[in-house]
This record gives sequence, C-alpha cells and structure tokens, in this order.
Amino acid sequence: MDRIRITGGHKLEGIIPISGAKNAALPLMIASILTPETLTLKNVPNLADVNMLARILRNHGVDLTIEGKRAGGKGHLGETFHLTAREIVDTTAPYELVSRMRASFWVLGPLVARCRQARVSMPGGCAIGTRPVDLHLQGLKQLGAEIDIDGGYVVAKAPKGLKGARIIFPKVSVGATHQILMAAVLAKGETVIENAAREPEIADVARCLVAMGAKIEGVGTSTLRIQGVDRLEGARHAVLPDRIETGTFAMAVAAAGGNVMLQGAQIEDLESAMNVLADCGATVKPTPDGIQITRNGNGIGPVSVETQPFPGFPTDLQAQLMALMTRADGTSTIRETIFENRFMHVQELVRLGADIHMQGDIATVRGVKRLTGAPVMATDLRASVSLVIGGLMAEGETMINRVYHLDRGFERLEEKLSRCGAQIERITG
Ligand code: UD1
Repeated sequence: MDRIRITGGHKLEGIIPISGAKNAALPLMIASILTPETLTLKNVPNLADVNMLARILRNHGVDLTIEGKRAGGKGHLGETFHLTAREIVDTTAPYELVSRMRASFWVLGPLVARCRQARVSMPGGCAIGTRPVDLHLQGLKQLGAEIDIDGGYVVAKAPKGLKGARIIFPKVSVGATHQILMAAVLAKGETVIENAAREPEIADVARCLVAMGAKIEGVGTSTLRIQGVDRLEGARHAVLPDRIETGTFAMAVAAAGGNVMLQGAQIEDLESAMNVLADCGATVKPTPDGIQITRNGNGIGPVSVETQPFPGFPTDLQAQLMALMTRADGTSTIRETIFENRFMHVQELVRLGADIHMQGDIATVRGVKRLTGAPVMATDLRASVSLVIGGLMAEGETMINRVYHLDRGFERLEEKLSRCGAQIERITG
C-alpha cells in the first residue's frame, strides 16, 4: 500500500492547476445512461472513484473511450471521456462494485427512467456516518417506481415509465437531488423538486442535462422544475473546477504560508470557505486566472465555523480547516452538522501534537505553538488530506499510511504540492 512522506516547514510558492470536480464528474458520467447518443465530458479528473464508476458503467453497457492525458502522464489537463450507452445490456449494479463508492448508487434513477427497471446494490463509500438512502427511494416512489429491497439490493420497477410529481425533500441531500433530477428528465409530465441541494455540482449536471435536451428551470436554486421529455440527445460538456480541491489547497497555503495561484478556481463556488480563510488572516484574491492565496508573516487567527449545505461552509472542507486551526493563535470551534461521524481525523491530528477536544458534534481546537511529525493513518477521503495539511505544518517527518483514500478524490496531490516547494513524496508498495 502506498504511503506519503512529508517533511514540514516549507512555504508554498507557485501555481496549482485545479482539476475537474470529482463530485460533478461522477453524476455527469452517470447521466450518459439517459441517452443512446454520445455524451462527451471534458476536464474529467483521473481519480480512483472515476475509474471505479467507469467499470460500473461499462458493466451496464456504456461504451467509454478516453482521450487526453493518461495515468502517469505529466500534463494537468483533465481527460476527455466519450460515453455512449447505445443499449443498456444489464440493469443490475452489483454489490462488489457499488459497495466501494456511494455515488454509484445514483445509477438507480437513470436506469429506471430509461429501462423501466433496475437492481442496484445498497451503497458503500466513506465510513463517515450511517448515510441512509431513504430520500432517494422516497423520491423515486413519488415518481411512480415500485421499490423493493431484496438481498441487499434495491429493486426498482416502473413498467409504464416514471411520472412527474412534486417532491419536497425533508432534508437537503446532494445525492437525492442528483438522483431525482436525473430520473425526472425522462419522466412523463412535470416534476418539481423542492428543498433541492444547491451545490454547484448539481447546477453543472443540470446544465449538461439541458444541453442534452432536458427541460429544467430553477438551475442553481432550491426549486427545480423539470418538464419530462421522451428522449435525450448527446452533448459536450466540460466538468466545472473542483471547489473542494481548491479549498483544500487554499488551506494548505494558509497553513504552510506562501503565495499560490489556484489556477482555474472559481471564487463564487466557495465564498463561505474563502471568507473563513480571510477571517483567519490569509489574503484571498480572485483574478481572471483563478484565486491567489497568500499568507506571509502573520499568524493564523482562530475561527468559529459550522458546516452547512451550499452556500454554507462545506463539510468536505471541515477536516482541512481543523488541521489549519491546530496552529491558530487561540481557540476555534468547528461544528459538523451534515455527517454525524466525520471526526476520525481528530485522533490522527492529535498524534501530531494538536489540542482538540470533542463534545458531541463540536470540536474545540486550541491552537498550539508547534506540531511534530508522526506516522498517521488516513481514514477517509477528506480526513486523509487534512493529515497532509497537518504534515506540511509539522516539524520533521510525517508518514501518512493508507493513502488510497486520498487517491479516490485528489488528482496528483503530491506532485501539485511538491512543484510549489513542499517536501512531499509518495512511497509506493
Ligand atoms: C455528497 C458528496 C459528499 C459531500 C456530501 C455533503 C458526492 C459524490 N458526494 O454526498 O462529498 O460530503 O454530498 O455535501 O457528491 N441523507 C439522508 N437520507 C438520504 C440521503 C442523505 O438522511 O436518503 C443524509 C445523509 O446521511 C447526510 C445528509 O443527508 O447526513 C447529507 O447527505 P448527502 O447530501 O446526500 O450526501 P451525499 O450525496 O452522499
């Protein structure tokens, strides 16, 4: 298993190109199920989760060809995927594949919409809480699907096709919004989704669906109004830049000090996180090229933050912010409101010398004068990258084990950081 070795204490200077967003690339790839024509996606990041989803889609009969930079290549432009689901040959998404990545469960809605039936394993993914799928299933039932659970599989049937409905989500869910949106575009009549998630990745998927011929109003708002169409066509779409990768590197710069251009980043996709960074003393400057982050000389101010659905502070940046706050000049509080078990990084950060006290869903982080390198264990995707930030700040060597978590969501992380002066290397095997 690969490990990452970091020797802390080096400033970051230079340019970091931001990859296409994992959380948009995955549902965009799934949208290819909705049409027999070719969906071309540009700027797809080369990530373990993308490769895993490609396997799942191929299993359904989606023909995938990839052009552009390949694994091991030197360039930073994403790959271009051509996905053609001329015929869906298998409507089952098996446990062995789906259990490894939660987002693959989102094939359910598009499969039922197009094939009137689907059998999809209950999902797996990061161990950050129970993460039920009740909202997905409830929404699909409202669209007229019959749903059964059989041997760990969700079996959905809609012999006469899906029918539009008014769906009011009792809770904001990114996945359920993707799922119902992608099902509703081929349902008969009008669907209204209320209390829809407003994450930029959902708007990106909606824009792609519109390019494919879907009729969607309210893109980017919490009310999506969809007029179902009989069929969708092929389209070309570029995946939007990854706001979580952007926020992560911004926090890495705030942590290590220095001056970095996050090339291609869009400030409007992560204003809450950038405001927090500005509050804690970093300089955040949007430019036509991306976002410039600087912290020179001054210390890190403490902050009080709670995670919220978009446009609030993203749960996917909570662990990274906590790592940054371990060295703040004072005490910070960080409350996690989205996932109940997303604090597994705490005990690992404590191994680096952090002073963190947990009470329920609130972490109180007392800034310390120094962190010291140590062997640590990555537990999930975002937690693992918080350890990278910890390692950049720590004196001496930090060895991060189980970095396969990192590879699920960060493209060439160690290469991007080392080009900016970080001492970071991957040890393979
Ligand atoms: C997506 C993101 C993930 C991010 C999360 C919240 C992708 C691939 N993943 O995950 O990176 O951390 O949004 O921004 O885009 N819930 C239910 N019932 C359901 C569905 C969700 O109770 O049927 C709960 C979840 O347990 C959680 C909350 O709703 O407490 C939000 O989850 P959701 O927005 O659905 O997250 P994901 O789509 O899984």
